[in-house]
Amino acid sequence: MSNQIALPTLSIGNITVNLPIIQGGMGVAVSSFGLASAVSEEGALGVVAAVGSAMACDEPGLSYQQRSYRGLRTILQKTRTLTQKPVGVNIMCALSDYDQLVGAAVAEHIEVIFSGAGLPLHLPALTEGTKTNLVPIVSSARAASILCRTWAKKYHRLPDALVVEGPMAGGHLGFSLDEIAQRPSLEKIVSEVLAYVKTVEEQYQCRIPVIAAGGIFTGADIARFLNLGAAGVQMGTRFVCTHECDASESFKKMYLDCREEDIILVKSPVGLPLRVIKNAFLDRIMKERESFSCTYHCLKGCIPARSPYCIAMALTKAVVGALDNGIVTCGANAYRCHEIVSVHDLLSELQRECLAEQNRL
Ligand SMILES: Cc1cc2nc3c(=O)[nH]c(=O)nc-3n(C[C@H](O)[C@H](O)[C@H](O)COP(=O)(O)O)c2cc1C
Repeated sequence: MSNQIALPTLSIGNITVNLPIIQGGMGVAVSSFGLASAVSEEGALGVVAAVGSAMACDEPGLSYQQRSYRGLRTILQKTRTLTQKPVGVNIMCALSDYDQLVGAAVAEHIEVIFSGAGLPLHLPALTEGTKTNLVPIVSSARAASILCRTWAKKYHRLPDALVVEGPMAGGHLGFSLDEIAQRPSLEKIVSEVLAYVKTVEEQYQCRIPVIAAGGIFTGADIARFLNLGAAGVQMGTRFVCTHECDASESFKKMYLDCREEDIILVKSPVGLPLRVIKNAFLDRIMKERESFSCTYHCLKGCIPARSPYCIAMALTKAVVGALDNGIVTCGANAYRCHEIVSVHDLLSELQRECLAEQNRL
């Protein structure tokens, strides 16, 4: 049998990208126009994180929601000047400006909206009549089934793909701390979602690609999930350690310098576990509540008076390099990052390793 020489392409609704690799949306501004455009240009799918877009608009006299809408449109227009290839936007359900951010993505004709940190049950209502492809992010077959049944019943449509994010991912996680302690494997969750999706595909005579995310680090990992039946993978942590990543050099250096034991889970004001790298700021806020006045009103469920710190402020500070007052989130494998490389070199390495593993298997 001859060796395979190229990875499969990835189709999501009406778009196809050359590589079955998605760069996961990373807020706040870790994946903005620089990283997302570079990834799409190299043949994978780049994704802009929408959280915090209000910061990209300094027009006076506007509400937070209006600034979010305008800010995200500006970021997406910059992305479009850098690449004509398909790009995605990641919009978290927990955001108070969710509807405005979806409106901005639609107005800029962005090809794919990824939406997690909650179930995007009413997303189709916000994009009706458009060609935007919709990809919910779920962490279990149960969540996939609630979502598919709701969309089919209320909107007569199904997701264009599903990202299945496991407990090793960066950012906010769709598991309780107790669930994570039982170390659920991404392979198992992906297999369960694949089995459920198969029943939906048979019932509705459609195709829903399943994309695995969380802890995927090497090309051999990618090969394993493709073999399992996934149509592609979503990766975050590896893309932070690229020259094109929009975060500051000191943010990236935290990844290069951390040890496995420095990566811990904390409870975020969003109400979900957040994976972070230990630092002095964390030590401080774990001992004593940080006093702050809320200027963002960015999260639906956040009660500032009860939050130990302002998550928006802490993530924003970290990304610009003010680490004394910032929180650095990362995937469980961040300690395995040892150098900053270009997106081109990273994707070439992942392809090489993936093909070698597929041919071996
Ligand atoms: C710095 C950072 C920020 C993230 N921000 C978001 C976000 O804003 N929205 C989201 O849905 N996922 C977010 N994630 C999750 C990623 O999109 C991705 O699915 C996940 O990190 C994949 O796991 P990996 O980092 O092990 O590759 C973030 C991850 C990281 C590392």
